[in-house]
Amino acid sequence: MSKNILVLTGSPRKGGNSDKLADAFIAGAQQAGHTTVKYTTGDKNIKGCIDCQACFKKGTACSIPDDFSELAPLLEQADMIVFATPLYWFSFPAQLKASIDKFYSFLIGKRTLKIKECALLVTGGVEDETKFDGIVTSYKIIAEFQNWKDSGVIIVPGLHDKDDILKTDGLQRGEAFGKNIL
Ligand SMILES: Cc1cc2nc3c(=O)[nH]c(=O)nc-3n(C[C@H](O)[C@H](O)[C@H](O)COP(=O)(O)O)c2cc1C
Repeated sequence: MSKNILVLTGSPRKGGNSDKLADAFIAGAQQAGHTTVKYTTGDKNIKGCIDCQACFKKGTACSIPDDFSELAPLLEQADMIVFATPLYWFSFPAQLKASIDKFYSFLIGKRTLKIKECALLVTGGVEDETKFDGIVTSYKIIAEFQNWKDSGVIIVPGLHDKDDILKTDGLQRGEAFGKNIL
């Protein structure tokens, strides 16, 4: 079945490691017949949630006008969500985290998302994959809370410079993962 896959990227570095990993995944998913939308949170102006509880009460998902108004409809159209991100302080980068925080509007606004599954693609500087435990655990608990099936996690460690991922098998793994989305 063809899916509508929303890929939320977290890096402000265009063409960097996680951006390339996102593109490899997208190439694979498109070969498998899926539709993909890439949304680069690092380019956007999405502020943190202020818990005003006014979600969807003024016609928009968030009462504070920012770029979440363009992300919210993409979330509503998606069957699958993929987080493609660098590891920042062993967690999500602020821009991506602010976007995730605003998923709260769907809870408060009682709007059901049709997203059924998710994946995490993450690159980081450290070699030791256990240092990714924070972001992976956070991702998995979010998936469980949202009732999204966790379709998989790809970790590519040991990357510092923008093109370092080209020296690894990360892009091949990302593309193969995309191709295997059913
Ligand atoms: C603000 C900042 C925080 C970072 N924090 C971590 C970290 O906690 N652990 C780590 O292994 N790498 C950390 N890194 C390195 C990046 O995760 C790594 O270089 C990643 O591959 C960058 O991905 P990108 O090229 O897509 O931006 C950090 C980089 C930046 C700029």
